[in-house]
Amino acid sequence: MKFWIILLLALVVFVSCKTEKSSDENMEINSFINELMAEMTLQEKIGQLNLVTPGGGILTGSVVSTDVEEKIKSGQVGGIFGIYGPEKVKQAQALAVEESRLGIPLLFGSDVIHGYKTTFPIPLGLSCSWDMELIKKTAQVAAKEATADGIFWNFSPMVDIARDPRWGRIAEGAGEDPFLGSAIAKAMVEGYQGDDLSDSKTMMATVKHLALYGASEAGRDYNTVDMSKLRMYNDYLPPYKAAVEAGVGCAMSSFNDVDGIPASGNKWLLTDLLRNQWGFDGFVVSDYTSINEMIAHGMGDLQAVSAMALNAGLDMDMVGEGFLSTLEKSLEEGKVTEEQIDMACRRILEAKYKLGLFDDPYRYNDISRPEKDILSKENRQIAREAAARACVLLKNDNQVLPLKKSGKIALVGPLADSQNNMLGTWAPTGEHHLAVKVVDGFIKNVGSSVQIFYAKGANIVDDPDYAKKINVFGPKVFIDKRSPKEMIDEAINVSKKANVIVAVVGEASEMTGEAANRTNLLIPENQKKLIRALAKTGKPLVLVVMSGRPLALTEELELADAVLFTWHPGVEAGNAIADVIYGDYNPSGKLTATFPRNVGQVPIYHSIRNTGRPQGSDEFQKFKSNYLDVENTPLLPFGYGLSYTDFEYANLKADKTKLTESEVLNITVDIINTGNYDGEEIVQLYIRDMVASITRPLKELKAFEKVPVKKGESKSVSFKISVDDLKFYNANLDYDWEEGEFEIMVGANSADLQSVKVNWSK
Ligand code: BGC
Repeated sequence: MKFWIILLLALVVFVSCKTEKSSDENMEINSFINELMAEMTLQEKIGQLNLVTPGGGILTGSVVSTDVEEKIKSGQVGGIFGIYGPEKVKQAQALAVEESRLGIPLLFGSDVIHGYKTTFPIPLGLSCSWDMELIKKTAQVAAKEATADGIFWNFSPMVDIARDPRWGRIAEGAGEDPFLGSAIAKAMVEGYQGDDLSDSKTMMATVKHLALYGASEAGRDYNTVDMSKLRMYNDYLPPYKAAVEAGVGCAMSSFNDVDGIPASGNKWLLTDLLRNQWGFDGFVVSDYTSINEMIAHGMGDLQAVSAMALNAGLDMDMVGEGFLSTLEKSLEEGKVTEEQIDMACRRILEAKYKLGLFDDPYRYNDISRPEKDILSKENRQIAREAAARACVLLKNDNQVLPLKKSGKIALVGPLADSQNNMLGTWAPTGEHHLAVKVVDGFIKNVGSSVQIFYAKGANIVDDPDYAKKINVFGPKVFIDKRSPKEMIDEAINVSKKANVIVAVVGEASEMTGEAANRTNLLIPENQKKLIRALAKTGKPLVLVVMSGRPLALTEELELADAVLFTWHPGVEAGNAIADVIYGDYNPSGKLTATFPRNVGQVPIYHSIRNTGRPQGSDEFQKFKSNYLDVENTPLLPFGYGLSYTDFEYANLKADKTKLTESEVLNITVDIINTGNYDGEEIVQLYIRDMVASITRPLKELKAFEKVPVKKGESKSVSFKISVDDLKFYNANLDYDWEEGEFEIMVGANSADLQSVKVNWSK
């Protein structure tokens, strides 16, 4: 008893010290900023709301900022992106600190989406690891490297839920599921920001793109988004909220409209929801010229849309300079208030304060750091592990994989000897020439014990016009001088000499990413011809598929003996793929976005709701919800992925079948490794709410655990479920649970589940 009282008292003292400390800190920040703002002119305050880019990195809009130096000196810039390196950043910082009237330091930002120079797999690939520690570690490495190079504000994580693989930016997020997406959002924010933003090895994160950007109609980038509030709250908003709860410093508004109002001018979104409901206390930055783009959305001229954005709660204008050029006039005309300008300015200054810039504006400019911190051996090792863990084994008939480190292989395909496509989309700070090609990774792994015959076999695409669109950020597709037939013939000839064929095929890195949408989810036809010809040789055929999106691989899954989906793996591509193909790492990744049978099934995802006419069996039934030409089920379900070993699920048990509100349900299941290798299994738990006040999904992911299980061993995995896991937003948008029956499902993927039913009453 005594012990508990002491513990309680200690807890009270700790909590009150903490709150005292944070309120002291707040007082300190406020008084510092009050003093500073008292000195600032209106123009200087508006200057803080201006984010410029002199044109480094990838330009995703048609405008770049001009007269940047002059603007910095005259206090018309709050932040900058596209400048890299501690010295260059220092020079630019010095313009603000030493040559502007008040010496307010600048923010230096960048898109560090999946690593800075040590490029990790694309985020969609990394999400397939379901490994939060690993994901957090990659974010920590990214922060360490970026800050070593002078960058301390990151335009990441991108947490947009995406259920339409036509959309090129599906590559940048964590896939289709709000529960997994929220866990990843949290891991990334924590990884980037650490415990202390002013630490010179952490960076401020930006959750983007608020909101619903991944639901662009027809998968066409920047397109209209229109969805019910119920779907927003239950399916699309949770990852943004999770990032806010993890303390993210900044939020970026999206290009699309939300409920008829463009996100960058949407007061409901940026103030009512983000600040008032979720308690976000950082600042909001627009996307690249997204304020100006509200003119095209039909919201008025530049002055009108800029006032609309400020009124909505947007604080910083990326590149568009609508704030800089019109807010003064809008203030004179009463279209915005001075309080609003002050508030936006205050939020940006607060971020600068938290980053420690007022103590030392050059804290991120240590010129000795890049050599120590960037692309270190340890960082590259993490990239290698991450790329191996991102791989998803889709098929492995007759245990073709792992390959033995002996004999002869034919290594063919347009991505086998490619370096420029390894990093994947949105790697503007990465360096292609550092990427390990697949052929080099194989040679390094197997040395002289395997004879490797290489042939390109096909171009990524044959059509020069298509190639031109893909090559917009530099050459990714090289069209060979030889005819397609000559290339295929060469590949067949080398295959004849080998015991096994490994064909590295798929998409060029810029076939996904921003404004890289496709209406066709197939591997390009010229590569398909190669695959068909290789299959005809009768030799064991292993496909290594690189891509930034789920693909409709129906034919390939039939033709090949084994398929390893590697996404775009990052700087350690070749090493990681060789590790997996040769069994140094047993693949454990599972899909985080459903693979459709064909593009017509899109949008497709696992947490569907029942219709009033659900299709009962696989067979076509008239007047049921189905298609004439294809089954309802996907090609590969969410959560799917094989291992070189086999796992059996047994003894699924619930410790109770009737529960009340305060009770916790304990679910246990045994995972038995019945195969020939040690491995890791991602155990997934889904819940169905059988009867509710709104239509509910047939299953929702509510828990998962990645467990290592040695060959021949069995592990018991347990999950604790409480009523918090049953909550959803109801028709009044209240977040609550409803009593009744629940089906609890556990298994290897969203379509391979065992279940128990329980009753929960209030
Ligand atoms: C993208 C953002 C990115 C910004 C700055 C935009 O086109 O939508 O995700 O952060 O450019 O590079």
